[in-house]
Amino acid sequence: MTLCCVCQMGREIVRVDRLTLEAGAPTLLSGPSGSGKSTLFRAISGIWPYGWGEIQRPADAAFMLLPQRPYVPSGTLKTAAAYPSVAGTYSDEAVREALRLARLSSLGSEIDSEDNWPQRLSGGEQQRLAIARVVLEKPYWLFLDEATSALDEDLEAEIYRMLIEVLPNTTIVSIGHRSTLIALHRRHLEMAPRQCGTFEPIATIKAGIFGGRTARDVR
Ligand SMILES: Nc1ncnc2c1ncn2[C@@H]1O[C@H](COP(=O)(O)OP(=O)(O)O)[C@@H](O)[C@H]1O
Ligand SMILES: [Mg+2]
Repeated sequence: MTLCCVCQMGREIVRVDRLTLEAGAPTLLSGPSGSGKSTLFRAISGIWPYGWGEIQRPADAAFMLLPQRPYVPSGTLKTAAAYPSVAGTYSDEAVREALRLARLSSLGSEIDSEDNWPQRLSGGEQQRLAIARVVLEKPYWLFLDEATSALDEDLEAEIYRMLIEVLPNTTIVSIGHRSTLIALHRRHLEMAPRQCGTFEPIATIKAGIFGGRTARDVR
């Protein structure tokens, strides 16, 4: 991937001379606020249209990008859990199991309840609802943009361990600030300042609980 993302006015937001994300190697991206991390994730996911360069993506690999504040529709909890797929895509049993794995077991009995879920659920519960969607959707690539920031560190680690166990074919690429996240990934990229004032991701250390896993081929 060689890429330059700009804003609508043409101002450069983030530039990456060359970056390869390896399937099977969970990667953490950290760095200063405003350094272009989210824009980079949006570009990789195909939802940032401004800029130039090349992103090579496997055509058949499903991507999922979770933002810090997920969209939670009103209606039944089942609908909110299935989003962006339509309710009915998954069985009630599968939705309950996904909620349990996302540490939302207490909501399992309410999947048919209609409520103002975005108002009723706390920020951390909404983030876990988005994690339940991941469990249902099983994407090949999962981009977590500060998507577990409202959870305490222990629960965040539990969720990461659950994802890696339940979704062995999914590669997680995270944006986060907490140092505890480093141990949950194999690669760590840090946004480093360039001379022109923008930032670029630079590899720092190789560490983490997944260090012993065999990297699959780059796809
Ligand atoms: N839609 C947009 N239009 C113009 N500028 C934007 C837009 N989105 C983000 N930016 C700017 O791009 C820079 C990087 O933003 P972002 O990628 O959100 O940074 P980070 O995720 O590292 O905090 C910021 O200066 C931000 O204001
Ligand atoms: Mg951001």
